[in-house]
Amino acid sequence: TDSTMSLIKDSIATVPDYPKAGIMFRDVTSLLANPAAFQATIEAFINAYKDKGFTKVIGTESRGFIFGAPLAYELGLPFIPVRKPGKLPRETISQSYQLEYGQDTLELHTDAIVAGDKVLLVDDLLATGGTIEATAKLVERLGGHATDAAFVVSLPELGGEKRVADLGIKVLKLVEFE
Ligand code: PRP
Ligand code: HPA
Repeated sequence: TDSTMSLIKDSIATVPDYPKAGIMFRDVTSLLANPAAFQATIEAFINAYKDKGFTKVIGTESRGFIFGAPLAYELGLPFIPVRKPGKLPRETISQSYQLEYGQDTLELHTDAIVAGDKVLLVDDLLATGGTIEATAKLVERLGGHATDAAFVVSLPELGGEKRVADLGIKVLKLVEFE
């Protein structure tokens, strides 16, 4: 409902000039500290994704873990972490992606996805879409199909929604900020 979405949106603090001048940082730690807002967030995701045939939930380090793990638990699905380099102990595949300045890499355990998996990607926030594109590529390289991506927050002006849609991935975002 509208009041649920307002509860969630109003729980997200805005921090001007973090991490640098001119950026309005949307801070989900204040949502996590508000139990009614956190419960409403996970419930909205459960309602969207229960009984839809997903076989796995992926959360991307680090804030994707916070929302992805309770969702996987409630849906009764495996939770799979995508991590920053060198953190996963077994055999991995790696995917690099462009940042505004420079590049970064994400990794996935090779045995975490099998051919035919239907995968839900979860992260706290969609900005340029680089993180979620790299995560989807890791899934597809192992034969899985990342059909959907769920975010608490989208910043549509940064282009991520279009980028993810162009990959054929369906986006759900609970709230938007300009
Ligand atoms: C933030 C956020 C998303 C990503 C969104 O993570 O949690 O994962 O950036 O940006 P994008 O759509 O432009 O890729 P960050 O890299 O800051 O890592 P953290 O979650 O470990 O803080
Ligand atoms: N908040 C949190 N993470 C982010 C943001 C933001 O405003 N922009 C890019 N990553």
